[in-house]
Amino acid sequence: MDATPSAAIEILAHEIERFPQNTGSEHDDRLKAYQAEVEQSLADPNAYWLNQANRIEWMRPPTQSLTYEWNTEKRIISHTCYADGILNATTSCLDRHANGERSEKTAIIWQGEESADVRRYTYTELRDEVCRCANVLKRLGAKKGDRIAIYLPLIPEAIIAMLACARIGAIHTVVFGGFSAESLRDRINNAEARILITANAGRRNGKVIPLKTWADEALRDAPTIAHVVVVRSTSDAVPMTSPRDHWYSDLTSNESTICEPEPMNAEDPLFILYTSGSTGKPKGVLHTTGGYLVQAALSHERVFGMREDDVYWCTADVGWITGHTYVVYGPLANGSTVLLYEGGPTYPNPGRTWDICDTHRVTVFYTAPTLIRLLMSHGDEWPSTFNLSTLRMLGCVGEPINPEAWRWYFDIIGKKRCPIMDTWWQTETGSILISPLAGIHDLKPGSALRPFFGIEAAILKPDGSVCGTKEGGALCLTRPWPGITRTLWGDHEKFIDTYFTANPNVYTAGDGCYRDEDGDLWILGRLDDVVNVAGHRIGTAEVESALVNHDTVAEAAIVPIRDPIKGQALAAFVTLMDGVTATPDLKQQLLLHVRTSIGPIAVPASLTFAPALPKTRSGKIMRRILRAIAEGNTNDLGDVSTLADPGVVDTLLRLKEPRNS
Ligand code: WTA
Repeated sequence: MDATPSAAIEILAHEIERFPQNTGSEHDDRLKAYQAEVEQSLADPNAYWLNQANRIEWMRPPTQSLTYEWNTEKRIISHTCYADGILNATTSCLDRHANGERSEKTAIIWQGEESADVRRYTYTELRDEVCRCANVLKRLGAKKGDRIAIYLPLIPEAIIAMLACARIGAIHTVVFGGFSAESLRDRINNAEARILITANAGRRNGKVIPLKTWADEALRDAPTIAHVVVVRSTSDAVPMTSPRDHWYSDLTSNESTICEPEPMNAEDPLFILYTSGSTGKPKGVLHTTGGYLVQAALSHERVFGMREDDVYWCTADVGWITGHTYVVYGPLANGSTVLLYEGGPTYPNPGRTWDICDTHRVTVFYTAPTLIRLLMSHGDEWPSTFNLSTLRMLGCVGEPINPEAWRWYFDIIGKKRCPIMDTWWQTETGSILISPLAGIHDLKPGSALRPFFGIEAAILKPDGSVCGTKEGGALCLTRPWPGITRTLWGDHEKFIDTYFTANPNVYTAGDGCYRDEDGDLWILGRLDDVVNVAGHRIGTAEVESALVNHDTVAEAAIVPIRDPIKGQALAAFVTLMDGVTATPDLKQQLLLHVRTSIGPIAVPASLTFAPALPKTRSGKIMRRILRAIAEGNTNDLGDVSTLADPGVVDTLLRLKEPRNS
């Protein structure tokens, strides 16, 4: 845990600005109502959460609320929410709208990378298509509880496939289309998925993403997959393997649009989503149905203050939790109009994102700080070319937002009219847990502000005591919430170890945080060996093990370095096997090896061949030193007296290579 002090000091060096959210008596009333709700949610969580269950549809409404046991000593960590309730997530997301006043309302607007490629689905059309797809899955033998892997570009079929799984009670596991064949294979095998839904190809920045080719490679060693359903998303030809592979359009064309929703217990699994941790392979975060859906809908409505006529665009891919909760389940449960864009945000020019906001009259825009910084780097002219007057609410998620990017987003995109919701949460939390609320809180650039209803946060020192004001520590949550992950797929012990042992009987998030003098929270970034590259979680251990798997590599260490656009990037230090020569060609091979083992997002920005790595006498790699060297902070190497061989540092200082890009 070495990230806390320096990061804290850095943020505090900025003078904290405040952007008041309205004043006057109306604001006073809103504030009072808000405070009363916060108090009620904490004083009587059972009543609060049971009442919130009414925002979704039930086949049998629950009488039980949130129950839990957090006992680290006895190694019992368990949660249930609405345990006697029966529902199917898709009736809340589809049928109640399709059968009611929103039947002709647009559910999805899909924008392809070509401007002319636009598809729209009303709620009725979406329900019908989901039912067709659900019937196909049944015909292929899928049953309640089966796992189905989804490896698709950001096209409507990605949402349709997820909801089709939910319709029949199958557990979806979506794998981001940017992950490699090997990553896909690992996830399929861990989840023991029976069916894979993919596409012939995707498109990004004018290039073809050969998903089916990668899927074929993954399936060479994925014995549980019996069927592959392939969406024809582009005109690119791909080989089809009979009888395993089927074209989606062939299967769905004659299917009925009626598929009765499978009755699910609120605690039945809805999905598994793999995410990187500080050790080993990615973990399958398991979310169940009732509590997750209620909290997704509640947070989406309240954080963005959703209105009936909003056009809502969350730029996340459905391969990430933000896509699950705030592209699919939250907005569709709320009957919103959701925009999907398959393509590069700056393709064919840096105005593309704003062009889409203008064309589709987007009102609520939710993205990641990395995208804001990227778009900001192209200057103010691009947004000024487009009419952004429909925007009324902005949001960001995934990493700390630096105040400069916040101000640009606020001034240039939101024209000082649109509040920015800096929302903190994680794959494991299922939904937003810390965020300002529009019209309630004064906004502060860089602060996620306050815990959401029913959420209680504590910032703890390594000895478990509570940090004082402006003192950095570990962000912990001291009571559960309906959408908390129930376990890691197939590894409950790891679940307990990862989140409930650093600080017994509370949930430790893995992030640094401090509270300012107003009681507002500032997230400082990861404290563990997880790096946040462009808002994506990457475990250093995963990249290190990919490198060490290469025949030429003896040892590897990955450390985070600052990056002006991505927030953080990876720097690799590698020692080679005896007799192997370090060449520029080998460096390229190793970078390519990481790309094929994990995916492009995990490729280090720099790779240094080192004769040895700095280690303590007990053999532990001193990453702090590597990080200082990688960032060029050579005056800031700190204490090197515990090194087994201090001479290693001098050698490394001479060797440090420039970044690849
Ligand atoms: C980081 C994404 C600062 C944090 C929803 C967390 C943030 C990790 C914020 C989870 C924020 C997310 N400010 N940091 N507003 N939101 N993070 O699981 O380090 O992909 O632990 O979920 O992203 O990443 P994940």
